[in-house]
Amino acid sequence: MKIAHVSDLHLTSMNFVEEWGENVIKILDSENPDIVVITGDFTTEAFIHEWDVVKEYMDRIGTKNKILVPGNHDARNEGYKIFEEMFGTRFPCYEDDKVVILGLDSTVPDLDDGHVGRENYAMIEKKLSVENKMKILALHHHLIAIPGTGRERNIAVDAGHVLRLITELDVDFVFSGHKHLPWVWKLENTHFVTAGTASSQRLKGRSHPSFNIMNVEDGETVLDEINVADSNREEILRVERSF
Ligand SMILES: [Fe+2]
Ligand SMILES: [Fe+2]
Repeated sequence: MKIAHVSDLHLTSMNFVEEWGENVIKILDSENPDIVVITGDFTTEAFIHEWDVVKEYMDRIGTKNKILVPGNHDARNEGYKIFEEMFGTRFPCYEDDKVVILGLDSTVPDLDDGHVGRENYAMIEKKLSVENKMKILALHHHLIAIPGTGRERNIAVDAGHVLRLITELDVDFVFSGHKHLPWVWKLENTHFVTAGTASSQRLKGRSHPSFNIMNVEDGETVLDEINVADSNREEILRVERSF
């Protein structure tokens, strides 16, 4: 099984690079993943005309299974309502006999801070209490601070509680974005994978635009980072675990 994790496309930003956006679609086409997870920040201000651009772009991604959650930029100006109109839910879930992927809206409208919210803890527990499957949680905001990204501000305000829930549930991977810099932390049995920005020039230092492809084989999972500017790939994580 192959899962692509893309984040922070910022399709309507001044810093969006058309060539990089096209490369993301091309690479996804050739990789043909089973599932595409996108952890938010599709837009800039989430105005209605921006969502037309998002819709057009998303329709060009041929992958049938898409798990999409909004980012802080998408929740501005009541954009979260248009997100719901367009994609159905801000809390999507995909499940088959091998994997369960739960998407969470971690935004607070018109604030940049992350927030999961205690009203969602029971739902997270219910969806991710399954046995013998890989469990992935996808949300825009990070739950652990990321080095090299400046002063910490927007980490989910209830990150402590959510981290405890995640480690108790033995979640395998948490996918997030927001920081525009790829990073992986491990806490107990959980890997926290932050994807970079796929197509925005808002990069940290000399880092490149990127997204991740995860190959799940029997007993082994390999995560590759794809450089969207030159299509090079680099293995960033290999985890042995059977489900
Ligand atoms: Fe972003
Ligand atoms: Fe963000």
